[in-house]
Amino acid sequence: MRDLLLLGIETTCDETAAAVVRRRADGSGTILSNIVLSQTADHAPYGGVVPEIASRAHVEVLDRVIERALRSSGVKLVEMDAIAAAAGPGLIGGVIVGLTTAKAIALAARKPLVAVNHLEAHALTARLTDAVPFPFLLLLVSGGHTQLVAVTGVGEYHKLGGTMDDAIGEAFDKTAKMLGLPYPGGPAVERAALRGDASRFALPRPLHGKPVPDFSLSGLKTAVRLEALRIAPLTDQDVNDLCASFQGAIVDILADRVRCALRVMRERGMKPSALVLAGGVGANQAVRRVLHKVAADGGTRLAVPPPELCTDNGAMIAWAGAERFALGLTDDLAVSPRARWPLEEVTGVEMAD
Ligand code: KG4
Ligand code: ZN
Repeated sequence: MRDLLLLGIETTCDETAAAVVRRRADGSGTILSNIVLSQTADHAPYGGVVPEIASRAHVEVLDRVIERALRSSGVKLVEMDAIAAAAGPGLIGGVIVGLTTAKAIALAARKPLVAVNHLEAHALTARLTDAVPFPFLLLLVSGGHTQLVAVTGVGEYHKLGGTMDDAIGEAFDKTAKMLGLPYPGGPAVERAALRGDASRFALPRPLHGKPVPDFSLSGLKTAVRLEALRIAPLTDQDVNDLCASFQGAIVDILADRVRCALRVMRERGMKPSALVLAGGVGANQAVRRVLHKVAADGGTRLAVPPPELCTDNGAMIAWAGAERFALGLTDDLAVSPRARWPLEEVTGVEMAD
């Protein structure tokens, strides 16, 4: 197997992104370019991502983002081995823009297409950044997803647990909105928490100690709201203390649920080479700190991509595309964009037709 060069396109949410990645024959990888144009400012006035605004923004800038990714990589389109695009899950308007653009490029440049699952791309990023071997435990925590997954190979994802209501990133975003902090909420809550007292409010840790590593966040969110109403009007210090108490609860919940998932993996005869943290919430330093300890206590290590590769980007799509392409997995130009596409439905070599 020779070196592979892939262009990756990501448009499933509010980032328009394109990147070029090289995958070497030994399975290691290098990012040659990684251009991310965030639409955060377009959505900020609404306190969340507005799907219609997102798809229009993707249409307006995607061609330029791809051009920049190609130019700064120094790789020409003719040199690519394949074109990868996120084909879901995500906001369908955006997915259509990215996947259709990838199809057009693949057709015009006569290159194979790899339709990548966005969650699979998050899952495999640590193999690019930290050369993590299979099997590993994936904790995916973003605005739309909260899952614990045993990853045993490319296309082999076994979900151990997930959220029964809100995603953790969503809980950060809703808490921020409730407390009058700017969007996106995660970074704002983390900043405020640094100046707050985490012991001031006793907030619940739902599902603590339960034997299946599921999550439930709605009770925590409600508890924050009730405390905020109880002490209103809020001073800056109140907001900081609420954020610190909320983040402290999240950290405890994550530690307990990940310990549970590590135990479940072992019970099923799998020895995880690492705990891989992926998704936007992985940028949170308090979360990283506790998971570092949980992994070490569990006899493994924490592998966490740098913050810019935890949040949505094109390099993760190009890399997942390269991992699939290296196994001979490509997709037909008729492949459909998917708003919903659970990780367990992604297939690898054995199950591919
Ligand atoms: O993976 P991502 O960029 O987009 C998807 O949801 O797919 O994740 C975005 C989420 C948002 O909910 C955001 O508030 C959260 O990740 N986030 C954080 C931090 N940075 C981003 N949550 C907590 N602490 C952070 N520092
Ligand atoms: Zn994502």
